[in-house]
Amino acid sequence: MKEKFYVTTPIYYTNGQPHIGHAYTTVACDVLARWNRLQKKETFFLTGTDEHGAKIQKKAQEEGKDPQEFVDEIAEVFENLWKKDKLNISNDFFIRTTSSSHKAAVQKVLQTLFDNGSLYKGTYKGLYCTGCEQFKSENELVDGKCPDHGTLPEEMEEECYLMKMNRWQDLLIEKIQADEFQIRPERYKKEILSFLQSQKLEDVSISRKNLSWGIPLPFDKEHTTYVWIDAFLNYLTGLGWNGDVKNIPAMWPADLQVIGKDILRVHATIWLALLLNLEIELPKSFFVHGHILSGGRKMSKTLGNVIRVEDLLEKFGTDGTRYLLMSGGTFGEDLDLTMERMVEKYNADLANGLGNLVSRTIKLVGSNEFLKTKKIEIPKDLHGEPIKLFLNNFNLHGALECINDLVKAANKFIEENKPWELAKNNVEKFEEVMKKLVIDLYVISDLLIPFLPDTAEKIKTALETKKVEPLFQRVK
Ligand code: MSP
Repeated sequence: MKEKFYVTTPIYYTNGQPHIGHAYTTVACDVLARWNRLQKKETFFLTGTDEHGAKIQKKAQEEGKDPQEFVDEIAEVFENLWKKDKLNISNDFFIRTTSSSHKAAVQKVLQTLFDNGSLYKGTYKGLYCTGCEQFKSENELVDGKCPDHGTLPEEMEEECYLMKMNRWQDLLIEKIQADEFQIRPERYKKEILSFLQSQKLEDVSISRKNLSWGIPLPFDKEHTTYVWIDAFLNYLTGLGWNGDVKNIPAMWPADLQVIGKDILRVHATIWLALLLNLEIELPKSFFVHGHILSGGRKMSKTLGNVIRVEDLLEKFGTDGTRYLLMSGGTFGEDLDLTMERMVEKYNADLANGLGNLVSRTIKLVGSNEFLKTKKIEIPKDLHGEPIKLFLNNFNLHGALECINDLVKAANKFIEENKPWELAKNNVEKFEEVMKKLVIDLYVISDLLIPFLPDTAEKIKTALETKKVEPLFQRVK
C-alpha cells in the first residue's frame, strides 16, 4: 500500500475572528501536506472549527445572537480565509463540531466510555479558566491568575462525570520515552515527561451541568460534554468516523498533529488518555510550535500590536503572506514579526530577489530565437537533498533559506556574466549561461511548490510561454 500521511491542525475556537496565529499553524500544515503529496504519499489534511463551550456561548450572548447563528458566521470566515484567493490552504476537509455527524459520533463515544467503565459520576472542585476552557491547578497560576489570559479563574464545584486518567500514566511515560509516540521538538518531549513523572494524573471532569451550549451526554441529558472531549474527537470524525470503535478509518492514526505550545499538555494527557480508554491507536506524533509575538511582545488588542491577516493579504498577496509567515523564524520557536521587518523581507527576497530573477531571465530568453524554440533538458528529480532533509525534519524556515540562497546565487550569476552583453558579442556563451539559468528556475519553482504554489506555477508557465508578468511588486 502507498505510504500515507495524515496531518491535522488544532480546530480553532469560533469566539472571534481568525487571527495570525491560526493562519500560521494552518499554512505550516499546508506546506507539510503539499510536500507529502509531492512525495507521492496518500495525504489527508484536516482543519476546522471548535464551536461549543462556555467561552463561545458567552460571546454569542454578548453579541445578542443565537449561538448557532454566531458560530455559523465565524466558521464561514475561517473557511473563506483558507480559500485559494486568500491563504490557499489545501485541506481535504473542514470539520465543524456543531455538524450533526460529529455530534452523533461524540455521543456514541461517550456511551462507549460509560459502558466500558472509563467514566463515573462524582463532583469536581477547582479553579476554572474560561479562556482556556480548563481547570487550573494552583501551581499553573501566576499571582492567582491564568498566565495565558491574565484573568482570575472561577472557583467551581459541580456534579459531573469524570474520566479515568491515572491508569495510563506509566504507559504514557513509556511510549513517549521510547518515541513510540513522538513529541517534537525534543524540549517539549522533555517538558511533558517531567510533568508526567512529577505528578499524579488526576481524573478529569468531562461534563458540565449548567452549560447548554454543548453535546448532551446520552446517558444523562442534564449534562453536556466538556468542550475538549468534543473537540479532540474531530481528529477522527473529520475522517468520516461515526464513533464506532470497531470501525476506525484507514487514515488513522494521524501521522502528525501540529499544535501550539499552549495546548500541548491537554493533548498529551486528556487526548491520549481518551484514545487509550477507547482502545484506539495513538497518533504517531505531535509537532509543537511557538507563538507569534510582535515587537518582542505578545500580540494583543490593548498593546495595539496586532497584525491582521487581511492586512497581510492586502499588502503582500497570498504567496507573499505565506512566505512571510513561514520565513519569519524557526518552526517550533516563538517568532517575532513586525510589519516593518516583513516589508523589508518581502522587498528583498521576493520583489528584488525572486521576482527580479524570473523577469530578467524570461526577458532574456524571449529575446533569443534559439532559446525561444529549443527545449532545454530538465533534470528529473529536482528536489535537492538538503531541502528533503529540512522538510522531513519540519525545518520550514531552513528550507526557505536554502531556496533563497539559490535565488541569490542565480542573481549573482547573472550579474557576473552580464548575459545582455553576451547576447550581442558571444551568442554561444549567452546560450550556455541562459540554459543554466532556465534550469535554475525550474529547480527553484519546483522547490517552491509546497510554500508558494501559485508562484511556482507562474514561473513554470513563464518558462514555457517565454512571457512574464511581474510576480511581486515592491511595497512600502
Ligand atoms: N480549540 C482549541 C484547540 C482544540 S484542538 C482539539 C484552541 N483553539 S485556539 O483557537 O485558541 O487556538 C488554536 C491554535 O491556534 C493554537 O494551538 C496555535 O496552534 C494557534 N495559535 C493561537 N494563537 C497563536 C499565536 N499567537 N501564535 C501562533 N499560534 C497560535 O486552543
